[in-house]
Amino acid sequence: VTGDTLEPPRAFNLMFETAIGPSGQIKGYLRPETAQGQFLNFNKLLEFNNSKTPFASASIGKSFRNEISPRSGLLRVREFLMAEIEHFVDPENKSHPRFEEIKQIKLRFLPREVQQAGSTEPVETTIGEAVESKMVDNQTLGYFIARIYQFLIKIGVDPTKLRFRQHMANEMAHYAADCWDAELKTSYGWIECVGCADRSAYDLTVHANKTKEKLVVRQKLDEPIQVTKWEIELTKKLFGPKFRKDAPKVEAYLLGLSQDELAADAEQLKNNGKIVFQVEGIEGDLELDDKFVSIEQKTRTEHVREFVPNVIEPSFGIGRIIYSIFEHSFWSRPEDTARAVLSFPPLVAPTKVLLVPLSNHPDLAPVTNEVSKILRKEQIPFKVDDSGVSIGKRYARNDELGTPFGITIDFDSSKDGSVTLRERDSTKQVRGSVADIIAAVRDITYNGVSWEEGTKNLEAFVTQSE
Ligand code: GLY
Repeated sequence: VTGDTLEPPRAFNLMFETAIGPSGQIKGYLRPETAQGQFLNFNKLLEFNNSKTPFASASIGKSFRNEISPRSGLLRVREFLMAEIEHFVDPENKSHPRFEEIKQIKLRFLPREVQQAGSTEPVETTIGEAVESKMVDNQTLGYFIARIYQFLIKIGVDPTKLRFRQHMANEMAHYAADCWDAELKTSYGWIECVGCADRSAYDLTVHANKTKEKLVVRQKLDEPIQVTKWEIELTKKLFGPKFRKDAPKVEAYLLGLSQDELAADAEQLKNNGKIVFQVEGIEGDLELDDKFVSIEQKTRTEHVREFVPNVIEPSFGIGRIIYSIFEHSFWSRPEDTARAVLSFPPLVAPTKVLLVPLSNHPDLAPVTNEVSKILRKEQIPFKVDDSGVSIGKRYARNDELGTPFGITIDFDSSKDGSVTLRERDSTKQVRGSVADIIAAVRDITYNGVSWEEGTKNLEAFVTQSE
């Protein structure tokens, strides 16, 4: 646009840097995901679950990313709300005890191979089949994919605008072994709204290596087993004279080596008579010969199995989901295209009931007050619209706000205590006592009951007023 020469693409930090404390000398970074707090607290969480896997933790909060170009409303922002579950599981057994309950759920998948072939035609199959055929790696990952689907549908996502797309190998985050995104179709295209990743043992391993704090599960074995492992021994009295103040750092580094690293060092020691390595915070290469270290394979009887659990992580972008629900719920009645309707499911609509006295006549006030009092007591969010405009207009403007129910109070109400209940999407109306109408609202909103079921004992009500 400006005619300036384009710079070549370059990597930049997606995390926001800040300075901690009054001196500003300590560097800090705003978190780009809520997950890490859960990994850092792993030992406490494990203890809370009686030291057994599987178990899960969840966290909701703000995260921050240095988006190069924030845009599209809530879809691409620098500060966003996310909700993450970390489900810790034995890497040797990723079955899920409740997989049976969801395995018949049919989903639309866009696996890697389909994308590689240049297609966007989803594969429609049950999650049971997807795991059986290994398209989805394991039951726990599959279980959460299905539960993500159930959750999204429950809160108002249009199932025809939802697909699960597998990450290609080159787009997967560094920590992920496999990842499926729940993508929602919006006017901006298909948008990643929930990620479901198998992060394997990546995070716990990295934190444990850095902090030297073990993050493992210990499982008592029924039968003891023979385990052969590389073991390192240090002749500590030689470390002080050689490394002086750095001796503890060098010792900690060597004692923290993984089995693979020990195997490689044993090979070096055998072939070259020494190991060469670097330690963070100490300049240059360090060398030690076999007077300082010995690395050997030893076989021991173990009564406890120790393992780093794998983690399956459903990660929800709340703003993106809300934006998509807005688009999926927004429509107009063919007979009134000037106005819109927001078909939020009653469970998520911010206001559940619009209370509409037919007019401002004082005779209607007692019933309006009575219904208000009960709704408050039942903790059902409601709003009274006693403005002078026509009742049709009042319904229409609350349809546009997504309010699912209208309770109308008319002159018969003041005589016999009956009121009318109107449903937003169908505009159907039924009539009954205040108690019966509020019971129907409660059942439909909070107990998963359909409109038909919830109002089957109420009288149909026909009106000319809309
Ligand atoms: N924790 C997943 C993500 O940050 O995208």
